[in-house]
Amino acid sequence: MSKARSITVAVLALTAVASLGFVSQPARSRRDGSPIIHRKMEAMADAMAELHIALEAGETEKALKNLQKMQEAVIDAKSQTPAITKEYEPEERDAQNADFRKRLVGVLKAYCDLEILILDGDTEAASALLQGEIHTAEREGHNIFKPKRDDD
Ligand code: HEM
Repeated sequence: MSKARSITVAVLALTAVASLGFVSQPARSRRDGSPIIHRKMEAMADAMAELHIALEAGETEKALKNLQKMQEAVIDAKSQTPAITKEYEPEERDAQNADFRKRLVGVLKAYCDLEILILDGDTEAASALLQGEIHTAEREGHNIFKPKRDDD
């Protein structure tokens, strides 16, 4: 093999090894986040999907049961601290953690308003609250606190 050719082969081999390493690099794992918050958020989203279905079908008991699950999940989540706030200096970190908690308390308050609307049979206002204030709180909360991942 000529010298130039063996250099080319070596470069190709190195590139192949490097790209294999790149391909097998895992996407940022869930461990980078906050596992408890993650679990509670997933529980909240699952129950919210069921709540939407129940509201559409006029099934009040099922709607209330799922709303209860959402309330319990947000209560469990609000006392946690999101992984992302570890990146701040201590004083700023406390303020960020307080902001996280206050936003989830706001969601809990909205869930209580939602409960009253459902008990009053005001499905239209209940849907508007879900799609308005609650959806906005979710979007804003995620923009600030949810870690960005490769698969986002
Ligand atoms: C209001 C309704 C909300 C719903 C249904 C909801 C749902 C979810 C879901 C399904 C996830 C997992 C998504 C993924 O990892 O791909 C998630 C993650 C997360 N959410 Fe929410 N969320 C809501 C509101 C909020 C609010 C208001 C905040 C902040 C104040 C927040 C903070 C977070 C954080 C920090 C994560 C990442 C947890 C981790 O480290 O894995 N969420 N949320």
